[in-house]
Parts: sequence; structure tokens; C-alpha cells
Amino acid sequence: TKRWNVNNEQNQYWKAIEEAAALLKSGETVAFPTETVYGLGADATNPEAVAKIFAAKGRPQDNPLIAHVATINQLKRLVDNIPTYVEELINIFSPGPITYVLSTNGTCAENVTAGLSTIGVRIPDHPVAQDLLETCDIPVAAPSANISGKPSPTTADHVWDDLYGKIAGLLDGGPTGVGLESTVVDCTQDIPIILRPGGITKEQLEEVVGTVMIDPALANKKEKPKAPGMKYRHYSPDVPMLLVEGSAKMIQNVTDQERELGKKVGILASKQTAELLKADEILSLGENIHEIATHLYDGLRKFKQGDVDIIVCEAFSEEGIGQAVMNRLKKAASESIRETY
Ligand code: TXA
Ligand code: MG
Repeated sequence: TKRWNVNNEQNQYWKAIEEAAALLKSGETVAFPTETVYGLGADATNPEAVAKIFAAKGRPQDNPLIAHVATINQLKRLVDNIPTYVEELINIFSPGPITYVLSTNGTCAENVTAGLSTIGVRIPDHPVAQDLLETCDIPVAAPSANISGKPSPTTADHVWDDLYGKIAGLLDGGPTGVGLESTVVDCTQDIPIILRPGGITKEQLEEVVGTVMIDPALANKKEKPKAPGMKYRHYSPDVPMLLVEGSAKMIQNVTDQERELGKKVGILASKQTAELLKADEILSLGENIHEIATHLYDGLRKFKQGDVDIIVCEAFSEEGIGQAVMNRLKKAASESIRETY
């Protein structure tokens, strides 16, 4: 695995981008930063290249990939039937942390869409991703660049830990910004449906298009999710995690109970809450929900077997990007949520 440092635009910058683009064009896999998380890219029109993504990640074959492009024109070349409301969403939110699910016109390989008639398309808002996509001038299929089931990578080191030796290249552009994946929106119906909450909130979408629906499976475990990837357990930390809905005092109670059982407890919480707590290890995720989103996956990855036996994590308000944060935390905790009001 070749690793390039593209943290700042030194003179090696364009050489790295060109080498990475050449690898992609020749059918190899390259990981690169986006504004959400690192992606693992391959030529979306080349089924053998796309197959290498599934192999490197250990990703289930029925889970479709998002095609990444640099411009609105390139996006339109991959899909049929763009509803008017999608034009409005694209004009306002792209480039940005949003993926549109539209009917595919067959330009991308069948294993990108896992055989579905629809395809997820996204224009990432990160200079390295933009320069890479413009330079290679092909649609790039890219899931998050982690081993399937683990938290998504928000630093190049996370990618390195998971995929070193399994991929051809890694563009190290430093930590990503948003920290959570893009919002996946089904745009094949009259009204947009959020399939995965993410960087663009429901409230932001509603400001532009009025009514927005949410896939019922996000609230009800008995429903089958429309985004195949949402049915899998995901974002799993190395050790079990309890998600605690309640005050700092309640979080401390849960922590103390676990420690009385002889377990070493690691805590993930906001800065304000973390300052009030006592445990074996305490990690502050930040002062507000945006900082918490940015640091969440790094926090989930920090607690390793051997360091702690269990993670106790604070639950946050589901407003705004809090909806995406809580969606990931509930999956990370395998829904083992303690309500301690
Ligand atoms: O922010 C992101 O979206 C990152 C960066 C790298 O762009 N990518 C990412 O990809 O998170 P991935 O593969 O980890 O998650 C894609 C999600 C999965 O839940 C998948 O099932 C869903 O999008 N998806 C992709 N294509 C779809 C389609 N045609 N219909 C329904 N869901 C789809
Ligand atoms: Mg993923």
C-alpha cells in the first residue's frame, strides 16, 4: 500500500494526486479523504476493480456502493429521471455530505449497485477528493474505507489500521471534518425519503423541499431498511458498549455498577459531562454536537480490548445532526440502551 501525504499543497501534492488517479484508472483501489469519512475508491465502470473493494473490506455482496463524481454534469451522466426537487437539493447541498439514490442508466458496473435498478450518487466537498475525481475523470465507487462492521475511518491512520496491505494506495489528507457519513436520500419517489441520517439534517432538507420522509425502518427494527447497508450491525467498537440516556449522575451509577462487577470502564461523553465523571478512562468527544460527530468514530476506535472491558457512552439529543450521531451510537451499542431517567 502506497501512502501519500497530501495534507497541505506542497509541490508533491499534484504528483500524489496524479499517481493515485492513475492507479484508479488502471483498476486498483485507492483510499482518499472526503468531508465525511475516508472512502475506498475504485473505477465504478470496471466490475473487476469494484470487486476489489468488496474483497478488501469483507463487505457483503448485497450492499451497494455510492458513485462519487466531481461535478453536477458528471452526476447527471450516471442516472435517469431526475425529479425537480433533486435539482433543487443538488444546487443547494452539492458538493456536500448528501447522497441521492436515483435510477441508474447502467453506466456504472452492476456490482456497484448490487444488482439494484437504483444508484447512490454523491459529489464530495473536500479538496483532495475533488482534485482526485477531476484528475481521473471517471465515476469512483467508494464505501467508507474501513473493514466492514467497524466504525468508519475519520483519519488516514484508521484506514491504515484496517486496510494496510489490502489496497493499492492511501491519500492522507488529515482528519475529515463532518465525521459521520453522508445523508442517503431515496429520490425515486415524489417525496424524498431519508434512508440513512448523516451530514445534512432532515431540517435542512425540509427548508428546501418541504416534506421529507424517513425510512420507517430507522425507528422500527421490525421493518426492512431500504438501504441494504442499514440492516447490518455496524460501527462496532472492540469491546461492548452501553448507551445511557440520562443525567451525569445516572451515567456514573451505571459506570459504578459495572466497576463493582470487576470491569474496567471507559467513558465517552461530551466535555461538560466528562468533567463530572469518574471511571478507568474518560474520553471527551467535544463541547457541542458537531464536535461530538467529528470525534465519534475516533472515540469508538480508541477503547481497545485490554484497555477497558466495557464502554459507557452518553446519549445525546436527536435534534439536527444529533439524529445521525444517535443512529450510529444505537448501532454501536447493538441497541442495548439503558434508560435511567
Ligand atoms: O459519506 C459517505 O457517504 C461515505 C463517503 C466515503 O462518501 N461513503 C459511505 O459509503 O458511507 P458506505 O458504502 O459505507 O455506505 C453507503 C450506504 C449503505 O448503507 C448502502 O446500503 C446505501 O448507502 N446505498 C448505496 N446505494 C444505494 C441504493 N442504490 N439504494 C439504497 N441504498 C443505497
Ligand atoms: Mg460504511
